[in-house]
Amino acid sequence: MSVRVVNMVMRAAFALALVLGLIFWTGHVVKPLVPLHMLAGIVLVFSVWYLGFLQARLPRGSFGLASIAGVTGLMVLIIGASQQRQPSGSGHVGVQVVHLLLGVTAVGVGEVCASRLQRAAGASAAERRQTR
Ligand code: HEM
Repeated sequence: MSVRVVNMVMRAAFALALVLGLIFWTGHVVKPLVPLHMLAGIVLVFSVWYLGFLQARLPRGSFGLASIAGVTGLMVLIIGASQQRQPSGSGHVGVQVVHLLLGVTAVGVGEVCASRLQRAAGASAAERRQTR
């Protein structure tokens, strides 16, 4: 799948998870929307992992960035799953903020990976044009 498509899927999943999460935060926990929120979060995490993996395979890819993508995504899933165990609205505000910030961090890491991949694709296209 192309980097551009995965990047768009990641952004859409983030926007959906964020909007639903903010609705929950205002106390409107619409139960049927919680699995949709979780699915959007999981799609976001897999997109970030995929982008992290792809950029690590570049000739000048960063293993460190791929590890950050892996760990951040894992933490989003672990903290997200722990939210579910708390009755609605009773979660500690600190955990809620950490949950939100991890989601924002994960999408930021995904964006860095995607821009590295797009830059590399642009550079190799320019190289091909020069050698023609
Ligand atoms: C982009 C990633 C995500 C963002 C931005 C995000 C954001 C939020 C926000 C702002 C809230 C409301 C405050 C709170 O209760 O913490 C929330 C609630 C919640 N989130 Fe997420 N979240 C994300 C990913 C996930 C994932 C991956 C899961 C599960 C695997 C998850 C499960 C939950 C649950 C169960 C709640 C509580 C709903 C309730 O109060 O019953 N979230 N999320």
